[in-house]
Amino acid sequence: MEFSIKSTPPAQAKSGCAVVGIFESRKLSAAAAALDRAAKGYLKSIVERGDMEGKLGATLLLHSVPNVACERVLLVGLGAEAEFRDKQYHEAIAAAIRTLNATGATEASLHLTELASVKRDLKWRVAHAVQVALEVVYRFDTMKSKPEGAQSALRRLTLSVGDKAGLRLASGGLELGLAVAHGMSLTKDLGNLPSNVCTPSYIAEQARELARHYRMKVTVLEREDMEKLGMGALLSVARGSAQPPKLIVLEHRGGARSQKPVALVGKGITFDTGGISLKPAPEMDEMKFDMCGAASVLGTLKAAGEMRLAMNVVGIIPTTENMPGGRATKPGDIVSTMSGQTVEILNTDAEGRLILCDALTYAERFEPAAVIDIATLTGACVIALGHVASGLFASDDALAKELLAAGEMAYDRAWHLPLWDDYQEQLKSNFADFANVGGRPAGSVTAACFLARFSKKFRWAHLDIAGTAWKSGKEKGATGRPVPLLTQFLLNRAGRK
Ligand code: BES
Ligand code: MN
Ligand code: ZN
Repeated sequence: MEFSIKSTPPAQAKSGCAVVGIFESRKLSAAAAALDRAAKGYLKSIVERGDMEGKLGATLLLHSVPNVACERVLLVGLGAEAEFRDKQYHEAIAAAIRTLNATGATEASLHLTELASVKRDLKWRVAHAVQVALEVVYRFDTMKSKPEGAQSALRRLTLSVGDKAGLRLASGGLELGLAVAHGMSLTKDLGNLPSNVCTPSYIAEQARELARHYRMKVTVLEREDMEKLGMGALLSVARGSAQPPKLIVLEHRGGARSQKPVALVGKGITFDTGGISLKPAPEMDEMKFDMCGAASVLGTLKAAGEMRLAMNVVGIIPTTENMPGGRATKPGDIVSTMSGQTVEILNTDAEGRLILCDALTYAERFEPAAVIDIATLTGACVIALGHVASGLFASDDALAKELLAAGEMAYDRAWHLPLWDDYQEQLKSNFADFANVGGRPAGSVTAACFLARFSKKFRWAHLDIAGTAWKSGKEKGATGRPVPLLTQFLLNRAGRK
């Protein structure tokens, strides 16, 4: 889809369809009121008849509205004006794009971007309109033998800004929205691919592709390299798999040579069977999404590359399958990590922390300004926070605050959970330095506590995205989260100096 920005009033816009909003209790938005004035009260008469009451997400398509340049007008319900926030803005735009597609419109001018009621600036409104539009038309059909259903008809979308003064702000929003949307789209594609295609080697190839395209530096460590480094935990997870594990390092160098990078560490389990602690069969297919942390690191680096982000970012991706087998790690086995600490693997299904701990130790060599790991780490996090917020843990309160703020800003929110030492007791082992599981209580916290033991040499935060990285059920598919949060976090940091 192509986007452009214009400040043409709705009645003069010569697009296929002008999209304007109606608030609940039949209140016309400013753009709708302008159209209505040109049309001599035509919209008002329709609204007053009760054909469009302004319920959030409701749509009504009108043809040949008098004195209006475009062929059609799409009215979109916005709900109550006093309650119009991020969520409602997203839903209204999604409803508009869906309807435009269904009606076969090839171009439209969207005047919902003018809605200041959402209490976000124009840059935000434009960026999010772009993100939502691309989200709605996103399809994953590369695995179908023939493309399914109609491709999106909508080709060109004009984002309207109230007046010329807004054009600069809006074009910044367009650039940001496109970068984030393209990053999310890569993250979704990788997540949605089945594990027989999206293997550790495939992810490594994707990282190489990104490096070529955006002139980043890429390094892929093989099993032998990891053996030399003493990554016994990561390698213990790979033991049952026929696919070779990889440790991928992708470096975006947009800042000064002396600037310490932010490191993003993403869990890349391309399929999680649980290993010898085998998972039950129902919904096990969804464990192909267990590499969404890794995919979000690549998506965020893509966004950084697209925006030519002026700072240093290093992505570190430990990736392997977690399979049972004759050579697989067994409950009770003890491994030695790159940090030198030993771990008793009481449950082979708690494998994410095992690959992440060695990747975190590896991150030390970059002398990072901060390290953030992103992982579909615990089912317990889904129980705690559902599918709305990602779980956030941090050894540094300032870093936690930065991430929470970035999540709010990007409408990709996280919620701060505790990382107190009191929980560390649950990881006690009679045979090794500590165990890889801490029992059922506070499962997300003890998982984070495990990672904290490998993150003492830098400022560190952990995002548990088990509930937010993908959707189940009829709309099963990767969401592209938390690319918006991470990109906003990097942008905020880049602008700080
Ligand atoms: N990848 C899973 C976490 C997961 C499960 C995410 C379900 C989303 C939905 C992770 O590797 C795992 O299996 N965690 C275990 C940990 C337990 C053994 C301590 C879990 O959550 O059950
Ligand atoms: Mn697991
Ligand atoms: Zn897992």
